[in-house]
Amino acid sequence: MKNKVKICDCTLRDGQQSLIATRLSTAEMLPIIGEMDKVGFGAMEVWGGATYDSCLRYLKEDPWDRLRAIRKAAPNTKLQMLLRGQNILGYRHYADDVVEMFVKKSIENGIDIIRIFDALNDVRNLETAVKACKKAGGHAQLAISFTLSDVHTEEYFVDLAKKFANIGADSICIKDMAGLLLPSAAYDLVKAIKKKVDLPLEIHSHYTSGAASMTYLKAIEAGADIIDTDMSPFSMGTSQPSTEVMNAVLKGTKYDTGLDEHLLKSISDYFLPIREKALESGLLSTKVLSVDIATLIYQVPGGMLSNLVSQLKTAGAEDKYREVLEEIPRVRADLGYPPLVTPSSQIVGTQAVLNVIMGERYKMTPKETKDLVRGMYGRTPVPISKEIREKIIGDEEPVTCRPADLLKPELPAAEKAIKDFKEQDEDVLSYVLFPQVAQDYFKFRQAQKYDIDPDLAKVEEGVYPI
Ligand code: CO
Repeated sequence: MKNKVKICDCTLRDGQQSLIATRLSTAEMLPIIGEMDKVGFGAMEVWGGATYDSCLRYLKEDPWDRLRAIRKAAPNTKLQMLLRGQNILGYRHYADDVVEMFVKKSIENGIDIIRIFDALNDVRNLETAVKACKKAGGHAQLAISFTLSDVHTEEYFVDLAKKFANIGADSICIKDMAGLLLPSAAYDLVKAIKKKVDLPLEIHSHYTSGAASMTYLKAIEAGADIIDTDMSPFSMGTSQPSTEVMNAVLKGTKYDTGLDEHLLKSISDYFLPIREKALESGLLSTKVLSVDIATLIYQVPGGMLSNLVSQLKTAGAEDKYREVLEEIPRVRADLGYPPLVTPSSQIVGTQAVLNVIMGERYKMTPKETKDLVRGMYGRTPVPISKEIREKIIGDEEPVTCRPADLLKPELPAAEKAIKDFKEQDEDVLSYVLFPQVAQDYFKFRQAQKYDIDPDLAKVEEGVYPI
């Protein structure tokens, strides 16, 4: 049974993030978690990524309450979260004291495995989180942000995996946000990494280009240990391959997962009406459900596509969808070929939207684009040309050190700022990550509790920032 493959079910995090803009509420999750806990998944990815922001901003829930509730409902399954290294779950770099506390609290509240990645694959941005994770007794999985470009060769990724092992990774993940990893390339890459790095290897892909389940099979044949899937109502399209399908595919082979297909079916049945409701309300768009082969050209990850659709919808510029998609690879090349994953996907996506809507490239550049050029997110895979740099930040000199070395501790000031609202230690983390959104949530929470101002109890309308 040496080759038995493990399944990490991502329905409650990536599945719902990729298909319904992370709007699945804790109330919708809880009734089924006990059943999911019986399956015997290698792990369930349930937290992190965009769920934290979405809880506070749209669902008016405390993300820590959600984590504790899931932990309680699933005592037997390892819980996994996705963490953006020094970006934690936000969109900028945070000081080390924030990263350390966030990681510690995540593990204290129930997380077992932290999948840590950096959008630029700059290893310096992972070190603080890895140390904190291991100190708190967690499993530190380090993820390669997979992308395609002339510099992103097999050798580059093997070298990265070796660096991950050197800084203490307990396992490695190939994180293919956009479904760019094709089956035979996956086979070669997994073989190459396995040859050099003796750690469990997990493969995470998205169905966006229609190849992910074939990629999984080839990766398994090459020695991948774990695959990431979602219960079928939240699978396919811009999400992962289906848990039930991959389970059936592997059944009876030497990779048999050993999971009960009837139990999986009953869990799947629970999620079906939630999917139907999302389709009816338009929250789940058919645009993200169909295979988009253009993703292989534009290299846009699933979550980014669904956010792009809703952002353009709000701006009344849905007709610019194709134009924006075509602008994305050009912006990516200009900005040093970052893999497209949060926050670089938001930065490149927003810049592409601005370039198209303004009718002139880089006429308007948000602070995040400038910070990327300034080196404030770390080292880009390829240096940004002088011409583009000058267009965006003038004659400013970019930094070359680890960006967080420039940041002073952030917790003391934040503690002071929220003293009137604080109900738990974790509140300070919500505030540092999302100051305005957290404050609005704290006010809402107080209003609910003390029934003081019903106006504050309004759920904010809007579109998730891409
Ligand atoms: Co993903």
